[in-house]
Amino acid sequence: MLKRVQKLKNGLRGVITIPSDKSISHRAVMFSSLAKGNCVINNFSSGADCHSTLNIFKQLGVNIEFIGKKTLKVESEGKLNHSFTPLDAGNSGTTTRLISGILAGQNFDSTIIGDESLSKRPMKRIIEPLTLMGANIESVDGHAPLTIHGCKLNGINYSSKLSSAQVKSCILLAGLNAEGETTYTEPYISRNHTELLLDYLGADIKVNDSSVTVRPSKLTGKDIEVVGDISSAAFFIVAGLITTKSDFIIKNVGLNPTRAGIIDIVKRMNGQIEILDKHVQSGELVGNIKVQYSENLKGCTIEGEDIPRLIDELPVIAVLASQAEGQTTVKNAEDLRNKESDRIKCLVSELTKIGISITEKSDGFIINGKTKITGNAELESYHDHRLAMSFYIAGLIAEKEIGINGFEWTKISFPEFEELIYKLI
Ligand code: S3P
Repeated sequence: MLKRVQKLKNGLRGVITIPSDKSISHRAVMFSSLAKGNCVINNFSSGADCHSTLNIFKQLGVNIEFIGKKTLKVESEGKLNHSFTPLDAGNSGTTTRLISGILAGQNFDSTIIGDESLSKRPMKRIIEPLTLMGANIESVDGHAPLTIHGCKLNGINYSSKLSSAQVKSCILLAGLNAEGETTYTEPYISRNHTELLLDYLGADIKVNDSSVTVRPSKLTGKDIEVVGDISSAAFFIVAGLITTKSDFIIKNVGLNPTRAGIIDIVKRMNGQIEILDKHVQSGELVGNIKVQYSENLKGCTIEGEDIPRLIDELPVIAVLASQAEGQTTVKNAEDLRNKESDRIKCLVSELTKIGISITEKSDGFIINGKTKITGNAELESYHDHRLAMSFYIAGLIAEKEIGINGFEWTKISFPEFEELIYKLI
């Protein structure tokens, strides 16, 4: 589907509530399926990725039903059943990697399949540590489909070269069902929703800086309120900062410090952003964000420990950087090449078409601002939801219309995206 976007005449104003966090919604369904008892999940994501997770756990025998538009009831015996048909993770890397950790230690075999993009994403990062735990996994040269022959696992002490919450969560989930203790250490702390939610549901889990240790645990079902997704809010934060006359509030945004790197970067870039009404909900920090048009943005360097805290926001941060005076350099972000698309290559090819000065680096990119976004071009989303939404935001300040191919991919994480933009126009 080709979406056409035109320059905004007046800014964005008003108040919106950002929909549910994708990472936490996945985990809420997975962990409450592993827990014994009943649980209500409020504000579950309407994104297609989370629905892939939901359908898989139904297929594994868990009783899950919607009792409201975004409210789920999960009834589980705390154990999963064999599925005779393959488990379809669709486009979702989080589903594939996290459930691999869960399925590796079951007493049955499973097959996980996915779409074309998912089947190209690297799975060796989970197969290697799971194999060290005794898992038996067949793949197509390190890619899905994955056939997991369930077996007894043993705990490991694993130091990862990568800061990846998906890999960390996979190993911790395998560790819940392994003999002995499992410790996972990463270079910089990645999002810690797994640690927070496992702790909330009663797992034996301890965190020490960038190391996490779990012991075999039984979880207990408890109600979960999912906060709003800062990765979805990021599109609105950038839209507000770069469109003249904008001034609005985004409500109910998750502000977990391991996820909220974009807030620090916006401040580093001189953007006008304010956090209001911070409080804790189901173990997660949440608040409202006020954003205003910011004329004097300046470039900055984003690297090292910043990266896992804003990895999904880098495409829209590239659009923001194009409106900042001077150079913005993104380093140590090579894993962007392994997302739903090669986000470094695709950002460079597409943003160049609309007049943005962006240079490709092996581990990131450099943007020289401030540039006029010319528009008058058709951009390719490469079936990547975050690229499609980032290009839309660029279109709001482009001199001439921008077309975005494959805009329907926004359904993966944020089906409400355009409706909320209209709410603020
Ligand atoms: C996620 C972790 C990140 C992120 C993805 C969601 C998660 O991936 O990019 O969108 O929910 O754990 P990596 O762990 O591969 O960096």
